[in-house]
Amino acid sequence: MANKYKIALIKGDGIGPEIVDEAVKVLDAVASVEDIEFDYSDYLMGGCAVDVFDNPLPQDTINGALASDAILFGAIGGPQYDTLPKEKRPETGLLKMRKELNVFANIRPAVIFDELTAASTLKEEVVKGVNLVVVRELTGGIYFGEPREKLADKAYNTMVYTKEEIKRIAKVAFEQAMKRDKKVTSVDKANVLEVSQLWREVVEEVAKDYPEVSLEHMYVDNAAMQLIRAPKQFDVILTGNIFGDILSDAASMVVGSIGLLPSASVGGKVGLYEPIHGSAPDIAGQGIANPIATIMSASMMLRDLGELNAANRIDNAIKAVLKEGYRTKDLSSFDAKEVVSTSEMGSLVAEYATK
Ligand code: IPM
Ligand code: MG
Repeated sequence: MANKYKIALIKGDGIGPEIVDEAVKVLDAVASVEDIEFDYSDYLMGGCAVDVFDNPLPQDTINGALASDAILFGAIGGPQYDTLPKEKRPETGLLKMRKELNVFANIRPAVIFDELTAASTLKEEVVKGVNLVVVRELTGGIYFGEPREKLADKAYNTMVYTKEEIKRIAKVAFEQAMKRDKKVTSVDKANVLEVSQLWREVVEEVAKDYPEVSLEHMYVDNAAMQLIRAPKQFDVILTGNIFGDILSDAASMVVGSIGLLPSASVGGKVGLYEPIHGSAPDIAGQGIANPIATIMSASMMLRDLGELNAANRIDNAIKAVLKEGYRTKDLSSFDAKEVVSTSEMGSLVAEYATK
């Protein structure tokens, strides 16, 4: 009997539909050779949901997501939605979705492909061999803290973390480290912020349960610098919501293209898997978007579902296709043998994944 999974597809806006379609192509390809079946359902979130329902996160999408085994998500947003009131903005839909699912742990690996070291804006010797993961707290911190308000002549937000919230994300980071190089760098701003002082104390507490893992603390400004100066020093970066948002974009440039970074948002009932890049409305519909980050997110999804063979197939296929010199336009100047479209890239990965 095949293992069956209900997958909620949230394609979203901009390039979202194109890249999710390619990930589905690859999922179907591995399903045909492993004993897996996928049952997909589409749901709207973001700008496309505002267009239809005047609501960036319809209840039907929440229900569908909660009733699935995993959610594969593309990207949301676009310039036409930027002037909408906050409750109608696409981003509000995504943040609400994270909260509804209680996916407090955002795992963002940044691993460089040997073939693409030249694609980084940093020197090859600095980036070759980079293999780090950002563990970002996703449902707390300044993104969600109350009170918050925008008045005519002032505005404010609150960065708040409870001990419990810090503890559970720290545990995720230490668990990741146990499977990797056993090093956690906890990033905060404890020289200025009380919330960071508590963060440090709690992380120290959690570290006691992981004597094999080495722990260091780093201020976020220094961490931004160190990521660019010597990224190989990092194994697991543990940090809060906003610092993690910023550092993960920086980490993406270390590995060359934001089109190569997947992510998993987990810790709740259902995991949400998405590329870390946005909806890139400027290139939507042209068939030039890089689907690899989304395909890698699908691989992370399979790993979490326990389908390790299928996940390995995808990871190896991506490596092989890049090694062969196939590149989407964003990476066309880096050892490209052939520049391929979004859908050609998806087909290539699908083909290699079945070999
Ligand atoms: C991300 C994005 C989101 C965030 C936006 C779209 C709300 O930048 O997933 O990193 O800030 O978390
Ligand atoms: Mg971001």
